[in-house]
Amino acid sequence: MALEDEFNREVTGIRVSLTDRCNFDCVYCHNEGLGDTRGPMDAQDEEMTAGEVVRILEVVSEFDVEKVKFTGGEPMLRNDLEEIIQRTPDSMEVSMTTNGTFLPGRAQDLVDAGLDRVNVSQDALDREHFTHLTKSGAYDRVLEGVEAALDAGLDPVKLNMVVFEPTAGYIPEMVDHVAKNNGLQLQLIEYMPEISGNPQWAIDIERVHDWLAERAERIERREMHGRARYYVAPEAQRRREQDSDVDTGMVEIVDPVENADFCANCHRVRVTHDGKFKGCLNRHDDLRPMGEMTREEIREAFRATVESRVPYYGEYFIRDGDGWTLNEKYMETHEPQPAND
Ligand code: GTP
Ligand code: 5AD
Repeated sequence: MALEDEFNREVTGIRVSLTDRCNFDCVYCHNEGLGDTRGPMDAQDEEMTAGEVVRILEVVSEFDVEKVKFTGGEPMLRNDLEEIIQRTPDSMEVSMTTNGTFLPGRAQDLVDAGLDRVNVSQDALDREHFTHLTKSGAYDRVLEGVEAALDAGLDPVKLNMVVFEPTAGYIPEMVDHVAKNNGLQLQLIEYMPEISGNPQWAIDIERVHDWLAERAERIERREMHGRARYYVAPEAQRRREQDSDVDTGMVEIVDPVENADFCANCHRVRVTHDGKFKGCLNRHDDLRPMGEMTREEIREAFRATVESRVPYYGEYFIRDGDGWTLNEKYMETHEPQPAND
């Protein structure tokens, strides 16, 4: 039986950061909720070992956690990624979010190890714009990475595009790009300023919903986070064949900011690269280090993490007139924990 938190949300997924190192330096990066982004490239002492990662996954799979997402930093900077995937319990669906640059030459090994799905961050369709956003010149390498993933059978590949001022104008061409390419899907991610700062970059995601709703042949709602999925036909076909069946590309919107509905439908907990449970991307008062823990202690830490889960928007952060404020009632009953030990 999956564990349920006080808000009747079952925890069925775990998101594991394998490293906070990255070969990119994206201007928007929230570093999986840890803030400060760019780290040195060498392996870090505080990174979990493969054995520690696998032990956590084995424990949570006892509680019917059925999906694991590996993230970073850049998870492919871990040379033991194949080993970790291979040792992940068979009951779990394994996916990864990557910048794509290390997929050429390695995608097939990951699939052979048991990788089921991949998301690749691709915020732009031209080299110059890409370089500006990621502070990396690896645009061609990312495209090769997407191809390598498709060749290895990781179809469909989901492209991640962060929606904020510098990218908003490029949404139509990105949507058309996936509509035209069968193997691709698109995830438009609302810029999250909570951790990254620069709130002036945020744009109104409702406008993107409205724009897509007008163009979509079909709309679905995903159980996870209540995310909307729009099925959009390529521009050229839309103009020609208004009423007939057309091939469509899937475009999903990830819109967590100030969205109590997103949080009410959240079914995942996180593990930081240095081995701490974390109940929510935006919260830092609920970190539980696992360090040298026994399996039984990890079970307890997992139970405690699930028990203290609170919808970030809607309970932890509550409406206060036009804005949001910390829920004093919640803070009185939950002692904050120091974030870094
Ligand atoms: P799949 O679509 O199932 O592959 O999962 P995903 O959308 O979580 O994958 P990905 O790692 O590509 O994340 C896309 C964006 O969603 C990133 O910006 C994540 O930080 C954000 N995100 C994912 N889960 C959560 C969450 O629980 N809370 C918040 N606030 N953001 C999340
Ligand atoms: N807002 C929205 N999405 C972000 N990502 C990183 N930082 C942010 C942010 N501030 C996304 C990247 C990456 C995924 C793991 O998180 O697009 O694909």
